[in-house]
Amino acid sequence: MKIRITEKSNLSKIDFSNLGFGAGLSDHVFICEYKNGSWGEGSIEPYGSLSQGLGLHALHYGQAVFEGQKAYRQKDNSIAIFRPEKNLKRLNISAKRMLIPEVPGDIFINGLTELIKVDSDWVPKGENQSLYLRPFLFSSSEFVAARPSEEYTFAIVTSPVGELYSKAVKVKVEQSFTRAASGGVGYAKAAGNYGGSFLATHNAVKEGFNQVLWTDHAEHNYLEEAGTMNVAFVLNNKLVTPILSDRILAGITRDSILTLAKEWNITIEERRIKVDELITALKDGSLNEAFGMGTAAVVSQINGIGFNDEIFSVPIPKNGIAMRMKKALSAIRYGESEDKFNWMYHI
Ligand SMILES: Cc1ncc(COP(=O)(O)O)c(C=O)c1O
Repeated sequence: MKIRITEKSNLSKIDFSNLGFGAGLSDHVFICEYKNGSWGEGSIEPYGSLSQGLGLHALHYGQAVFEGQKAYRQKDNSIAIFRPEKNLKRLNISAKRMLIPEVPGDIFINGLTELIKVDSDWVPKGENQSLYLRPFLFSSSEFVAARPSEEYTFAIVTSPVGELYSKAVKVKVEQSFTRAASGGVGYAKAAGNYGGSFLATHNAVKEGFNQVLWTDHAEHNYLEEAGTMNVAFVLNNKLVTPILSDRILAGITRDSILTLAKEWNITIEERRIKVDELITALKDGSLNEAFGMGTAAVVSQINGIGFNDEIFSVPIPKNGIAMRMKKALSAIRYGESEDKFNWMYHI
C-alpha cells in the first residue's frame, strides 16, 4: 500500500489530558476509490482536503454511510480494535441499502490496520481513552441529476477520544419527530439519519436532556433507540431491550452486552416495549435501571426520562447490570481480562 507521510504533524496540538470527543483528527487518512466498476488499491495520505468540486454527488443526494469503532491501547502497550469484522459487515449492509458498492473486507481491514500503525502515537494511553475510527463511504461522482453516483470513495479518519458521557444521561421520550420509518433506512448507518435527527435532539438539549429516546413512527407508542445508542431497561431484574427492526441500528455494543448477559445467566427479553409500560414501571418502582449502549457512549446509565412534560428519576445502581457490563467490556477492550469471545483484533 502506498503511504505518504505528512510533513507537519498535529500531534503536539492535542491535549491528551483533556480529550473531548471527535474534535482533533489524526495526521493521516486511508482513502480508496471506486471507479469504472472496481475498487482501487487504497493509500495512506496526510489528512487534508478532497480534490472534488461542489458537484460532489454525496452533498446533493446523500449516498453516504459510515461506521464508528475504536482501537484500544493494551496493557502491554500494543493496540487492538474491537470487533472490526462486525463494523465491516454493518458498513456493507448500510451500503447495500443505499445502492453503494460494498467495500471488500481486505481493503477495510488493511486500511484500518495500516492507518493505525502509521498514527500509532495518536492512540491514547489514558483511562477510558481510545482512538475513535471513522470509516465512511460516499458517492463521489460530480453531477446534479437525481440518479445513483458512478464513483464512490471509501475513507477512514481517526480521532483520539475520551468518554462521550462521563455522567449519567437524561433522555426525552420523543412524541412528535420520527427518526426512522418501516421500509426506510433506519437500520443503515446512513449519514442522513443523523442530519434528520439533529432538530429533535437540539430541542431536547434545550430542555435539559442529553438525548432523544425515539419512539415508533406510526403511533409513538413503542420505544426504539436513543440518539447514538441502543437502549436497555432492567425491569424486575430482567434485561429488556427493544427488538431489532428495519428502523433500529443493530448496535455492536448491544450485541456484545447481550452476549455477556447470556454468559452471566441474566434473563434477556428482546421485544417491543410500550412507552406506557416504561412509565408504569417508573411509577411503581419496577424499573431497576436503564442504560444506553454504543461505541461512543459505551455504557451510559440513564438517570432521568422525560415524558409529557414530566421528568421521572431512574435509579443508577453502583453495582447494577450497566456498571458491571461497562467494567467487563472495558477489561476485554484494554486487554486486562481474557478475550473469551475473540473480540479483539490485534494490530
Ligand atoms: C443510531 C445509533 N444507534 C445505535 C448505536 C450503537 O451502535 P454501536 O454499538 O455499534 O456503536 C449508534 C452508534 O453508533 C447509533 O448511531
